[in-house]
Amino acid sequence: MAQADKRPATKSGEAVYKSVCIACHESGVAHAPKFGDRAAWAPLIAEGQPVLTGHAWVGVRAMPPRGGSPDIQLHEFARAAAFMARNGGADWKDPDAAMLRKIIIEADKRLVQAIKDQQAMQRELHRLSRRPVAAD
Ligand code: HEC
Repeated sequence: MAQADKRPATKSGEAVYKSVCIACHESGVAHAPKFGDRAAWAPLIAEGQPVLTGHAWVGVRAMPPRGGSPDIQLHEFARAAAFMARNGGADWKDPDAAMLRKIIIEADKRLVQAIKDQQAMQRELHRLSRRPVAAD
């Protein structure tokens, strides 16, 4: 596929896991679901590959966007998520183009919601800034 040929060489899910995700998911830092912990992964896997991967990509609570690694590409991240899910009991494959598209749609939906939440917070701050703030 011509598009795929333009991509830089990419890492396997296992390689990404070992270089990035392992920092938190090996020990379960800040309640990160532990690698290989089927009980922890079962409800996450039930969300489905597009939703779980898309939400993790944009960040969930203490899970930083892109796993905290600015250089990581979506398809590499998605492979790492699939690798982790497989080790938690899922039968997820490394995503193909169709799956990546679904992941992008879910990530975008999540981001739109996060932006709306932030805009609501900004409107509140602007309202507060236009009148004396009650300090007690
Ligand atoms: C800095 C620590 C940290 C790193 C690095 C990290 N994660 Fe996470 N991850 C977390 C935490 C904490 C959670 C639990 C978030 C929650 O539910 O509160 C989490 C949750 C997740 C989830 C479940 C998301 C959900 O919707 O509940 C997935 C999938 C995931 N991480 C994938 C990855 C992948 C793939 C990588 C590597 C590319 C990675 N993480 C790197 C901390 C990390």
